[in-house]
Amino acid sequence: MLPNIVLIGFMGCGKSSVGRRLAGLTGHRFLDTDDLIAQAEGRSIPEIFATEGEAYFRDVEHRVLSEQVGVCGVVLSTGGGLVLRPENREMLRRLGVVAWLDADREALFERATRTGKRPLLQTDDPRATFFHLLDERLSVYREVADFRVDSTNLSHDEAAQSLLDGALREGRRFEY
Ligand code: S3P
Repeated sequence: MLPNIVLIGFMGCGKSSVGRRLAGLTGHRFLDTDDLIAQAEGRSIPEIFATEGEAYFRDVEHRVLSEQVGVCGVVLSTGGGLVLRPENREMLRRLGVVAWLDADREALFERATRTGKRPLLQTDDPRATFFHLLDERLSVYREVADFRVDSTNLSHDEAAQSLLDGALREGRRFEY
């Protein structure tokens, strides 16, 4: 049986759009940690950041992830900073095969800033902030992922298919 598939990656990599398609391909249910947080809090992610700050957001993020322990048959898309806490990384590895959806730096920046709503980019120099955070996190994504898909030149459907191929290949660590 196909294990859960966990999607990690930086803002703009397409985790939500591609993840939905991947769920369609696999028959898995689609879950998104940002959606779970917004539901639990009854307000949007930008509102939570603006009124409570990042530390509060990270606590709720950790809590909603903990609530997914033991879930089966899901594609779980995660917020770009969820991997920052080591205990979250551990949980992701137990939950399922971990796929890093990545893209060229400029492509990520262009996609992430299209909507202009990302709370961490509300700075004087969003471009510098973006690349600084990306550089800080690359090694963490590399460490936690079972495999990586570069979506720079892929459509959402092609990226979803590559993720499925990778999950079938790497999912063997779940065959006990
Ligand atoms: C964040 C990424 C966002 C969201 C929050 C913090 C981050 O999710 O969880 O704004 O720290 O990179 P996306 O990766 O879906 O943009």
